Amino acid sequence: MRLTYVVTPGDFANAGKISSSVKSLLKQLNIPPGDIKRIIVALYEAEVNMVAHSYGGEITCDIEAEQALVEALDVGPGIPDVGLAMTEGWSTATSEIRELGFGAGMGLPNIKKHTDELEIVSGKDSPTKISMKFYYRGGPS
Ligand SMILES: Nc1ncnc2c1ncn2[C@@H]1O[C@H](COP(=O)(O)OP(=O)(O)OP(=O)(O)O)[C@@H](O)[C@H]1O
Ligand SMILES: [Mg+2]
Repeated sequence: MRLTYVVTPGDFANAGKISSSVKSLLKQLNIPPGDIKRIIVALYEAEVNMVAHSYGGEITCDIEAEQALVEALDVGPGIPDVGLAMTEGWSTATSEIRELGFGAGMGLPNIKKHTDELEIVSGKDSPTKISMKFYYRGGPS
């Protein structure tokens, strides 16, 4: 099953809604709770990053019998140094974003922690593509 969602930049009021929709759907599909948790944590961080840091884009989820693939693709402005951005606590969040409770610099490290395979393709003035793969392990959350 393939699901595609559009992410609007700066729309913090709706940030997290894609994650909530996908969570309900994964529950209906009886995906193991522990796997739902990992997928949703990572998806939520990618979704909020797109709202906070990008000019907008799309999130596509491919839900299969044994695995899920989530791809977040935006139109820029890109991450100049992906290795640096993966560092815990590293953030370019503005004071406005921090006032909303984001900007701890923990989103990308959190994505890394919860995915089985992670690929980030980006660069200065480039689109950012984050591909996250999850193999269902089974078990409780
Ligand atoms: N889609 C994106 N487009 C452009 N830059 C991004 C994107 N996602 C992340 N970044 C950059 O990587 C940095 C680190 O991201 P990360 O999610 O780890 O932290 P954060 O979003 O700043 O804070 P937190 O996720 O803890 O609220 C961001 O501050 C931003 O500079
Ligand atoms: Mg973040």
